[in-house]
Parts: sequence; C-alpha cells; structure tokens
Amino acid sequence: MSRRFVVRHAAPADAPALVELGRSVGAEPEGWLIADSTWREPGDERRYLRSLRRYEGAAVFVAEGAEGIVGRLSIARDSHPASAHVADLGLMVASSARRRGVGTALLEAAVEWGRGLGVCKLELHVFPHNTPAIALYDRFGFVREGYRRAHYRRGREYVDAILMAYEVGSRG
Ligand SMILES: CC(C)(COP(=O)(O)OP(=O)(O)OC[C@H]1O[C@@H](n2cnc3c(N)ncnc32)[C@H](O)[C@@H]1OP(=O)(O)O)[C@@H](O)C(=O)NCCC(=O)NCCS
Repeated sequence: MSRRFVVRHAAPADAPALVELGRSVGAEPEGWLIADSTWREPGDERRYLRSLRRYEGAAVFVAEGAEGIVGRLSIARDSHPASAHVADLGLMVASSARRRGVGTALLEAAVEWGRGLGVCKLELHVFPHNTPAIALYDRFGFVREGYRRAHYRRGREYVDAILMAYEVGSRG
C-alpha cells in the first residue's frame, strides 16, 4: 500500500503547524512527552528551524499528509567529540494519524540522516508507561540500554525513563 504522506525536512514556515502538533500531543492526558501543552512559541520554533539551515548536527523531519503536518521527529547529535557518533531523537505523531506507519517512516528518515553524517547510534528516552511508543521502538529494532530513575521533571513530579538505542548500520 502506498503511503498517504511524505516525509521531508521541516521548513521555517512549518513553525505554526509544528507548535500546534506539539501542544496537542503534549496535552494528551497520558503524558507521553516531556513537554506538556506549553510548547514553545511559533517565533522561537521558526528561529530554531531557520538555524538548522546553518547547522548540520541537528534536523527536524515532518510527515505531511493531505490534512497537513501529522508527525515530527527532532534529532541532534551529541556535541562532545567523544560521543559525536550518537544522536538523540524525539518523536510525535498526531493522534488522528497513528498506526499508519508515520512513526516508522520518520524513524527511517532519522536513520538515513544519521548514516549520512557517520552517526552510529540513535538514542531516545521513553516513559515506562508509553507502551505504544515502546512497541514501535521494539519493532523498529531499538534495544533497552538502561533505566533512568527520576530522570525528568514533569510539573511537580520526577518521572522515570527507559533509555533505548538503535545501531545505525552502514547499509539499509
Ligand atoms: C508512539 C507513536 C510515535 C507511534 O507512531 P505511529 O505513527 O502510530 O507508529 P506506526 O504506525 O509506525 O507503528 C508501527 C508499529 O509500532 C507498533 N505500535 C505503534 N503504536 C502502537 C500501539 N498503540 N499499540 C501497540 N503497538 C503499537 C505496532 O507494531 C505498529 O505496527 P502495526 O500498526 O502494523 O501493528 C505515536 O503513538 C505517538 O506520537 N504517540 C504520542 C507521542 C509519543 O509517545 N511520542 C514518543 C515519545 S518517546
């Protein structure tokens, strides 16, 4: 079945749609993301996306369907030279567009991007209660590397996170 969306690099003009996506996924009661509904403002988002044009160590990919932007993956490689072969990512898909392969396609774009830069390892943090995301990462080939207790603060509480990683091979 052909995809009903395309994956591409985000452009500064995508800022309002990306803020809306971040706010709506962040506001879901399950608390999937580190961010809650208070996402950055469109102007800051636009500036960040613009800055990526001059910096090759980070990227934002979007999935776009007929209804607009339905997914986002942000990725940045480690700034320390000793771990510059590692890149950390964050992912979200609009609730209306889940289970259609969007998350998988965005992860594939991240692998391609990493491979092009000589990044060997992708890593991410996921909350232990986020069984949909863990299922996606397991199926994609991520492995658990650790369990980080009280690693993030959400509102007034500290929450645990699972650290997962994916080895970027030299071929597909
Ligand atoms: C997690 C998330 C990114 C998955 O995106 P998606 O586009 O629905 O994922 P895909 O369609 O590519 O799913 C691929 C596979 O992952 C697994 N999977 C995904 N969601 C699942 C769910 N809710 N329950 C069980 N398995 C699931 C399935 O194996 C699925 O394949 P299938 O649909 O053929 O069974 C999406 O649910 C989301 O954005 N959630 C809220 C934000 C979030 O949790 N982000 C990650 C933070 S670490």
